[in-house]
Amino acid sequence: MEAPVLLNPERKMLSVMQSDATKKWSLEEILVACGWKDQAIAVGAGHGLTNHGLVDTVEHVVSTVRLASEGTKAHQEGLLEHRLWTWIQSSENPSMGDLQTSFERNEAGPGVGLLKRLGVGLANGVFHSADGDAVAEAISARTVFLSSLPCSVEDADPSMLDHFKSRRGLIEVTDATTRTWSITPQGMGVQSEDLEQKQAIAEITTELLQSDEWKEAEFRSFDVTLESATPRTGRSHPMQALIERVRAIFLEMGFSELVDDYVQTAGWNMDALFIPQDHPAREMQDTFYLDSPASIPLPEDLVKAWGEIHEHGGTTGSVGWGGSFSKATSEKGLLRTHTTVNTIQYLAANPDQACRVFSVDRVFRKEAIDRTHLPEFHQIEGIIMEEGANLQMLVTTLKTFYAKMGYPEVRVRPAYFPYTEPSLEIEVKWRGKWLELGGAGIFRPEVTEPLGISTPVLAWGMGLERLAMLVLGLDDIRQLYISDLDWLRNQPIL
Ligand code: PHE
Repeated sequence: MEAPVLLNPERKMLSVMQSDATKKWSLEEILVACGWKDQAIAVGAGHGLTNHGLVDTVEHVVSTVRLASEGTKAHQEGLLEHRLWTWIQSSENPSMGDLQTSFERNEAGPGVGLLKRLGVGLANGVFHSADGDAVAEAISARTVFLSSLPCSVEDADPSMLDHFKSRRGLIEVTDATTRTWSITPQGMGVQSEDLEQKQAIAEITTELLQSDEWKEAEFRSFDVTLESATPRTGRSHPMQALIERVRAIFLEMGFSELVDDYVQTAGWNMDALFIPQDHPAREMQDTFYLDSPASIPLPEDLVKAWGEIHEHGGTTGSVGWGGSFSKATSEKGLLRTHTTVNTIQYLAANPDQACRVFSVDRVFRKEAIDRTHLPEFHQIEGIIMEEGANLQMLVTTLKTFYAKMGYPEVRVRPAYFPYTEPSLEIEVKWRGKWLELGGAGIFRPEVTEPLGISTPVLAWGMGLERLAMLVLGLDDIRQLYISDLDWLRNQPIL
């Protein structure tokens, strides 16, 4: 049989052990003989040599009796029976009543039982023993036993051990494993040249491969069956990972990404989108208006154009909302309630350039937090402006997006938004149920005409957190943001 290739510590340990064919080596002896400080090296080498059949390992379990918490106390203050017996001897007429006033409740009760078993009982209402010397001797033997601890179970008096094991918290028995190694005949047979310290190569480098050294080198072997710790490296938050995936899909579909500010005017967030100035969604309880900037100036001509549309439909043929349009309302500062505020500004800046634009960004609404609502969340927004763009194209685009996300079953239903006509709701089938994920439609002339846009614009806005709930299988949207490390670690990599 060919000699196994041994690791350096194994070589060292075996050559030490070859000095005595029958010796049982303890860990300490191996450490001294090999000149090691680290026990783990010796244990590892012993393990390796045993696996190769060069060494036998014998494990011994040594049980030690030691004082437990109550035992340490008894060792310092005296055993309960000792203190009781001292008290009885120093009292004139030690009665049960006296005992109960001299000792705590939790000691008096068990104490009487202890005394009884030592042959101390009540005679005419007074504690008494027929053989006081025997009591004192028994108690002192117990005290001596406690003061002899710790000791190995084998060396301990068995009757004392039984006695104290039956009492709570005085002693405890702990097991420790130690091992000894002895060399086997095969171990004795390993040639000394095979036990020379060799530099085994653990890492293969380019230099090594380019030189000829690798031909002569010894390579360190790895045990690939050993369990290893799971490395915990940093990783993207599942929400960030989802955003990246949504981004990748839209980029792949030929869209460009738009990033814009949270702080906006009511004019762009609502008026530009033909949301009437008395719309309930504009109320304080739905929208976060800002104190600073409470108002952001808007170009005169823009406000004028919106005003005409809102009041009477301008030149679009629409009748508008009627009433009178307020410039002050339009200039109010707010946190955007939807990302449509950004796509509409993009269109205003590029009114006659066909485009496909998307954004995945944060929006704010004054929602009470619950299982499905947060005051800050994200929308997946998008527009396609293109000659001939139509409803069919809109539906196909959305279906394609969700299919790429892994949700091939998508349906649309009629809906209403002040800024689109027709308008629709997008629903995705998940676990057998249809879930509403967003809105879409074709911008109305009341929206496009004042901005000088004459090409059809398809638009949509969908909830990202809702989608995350599907992707991650969540019942509660809050799970996404509470930084629950255990949960985060166990999320699939999207
Ligand atoms: N902005 C709408 C919302 O926040 C969604 C939407 C966007 C609807 C674009 C139609 C067109 O729910």
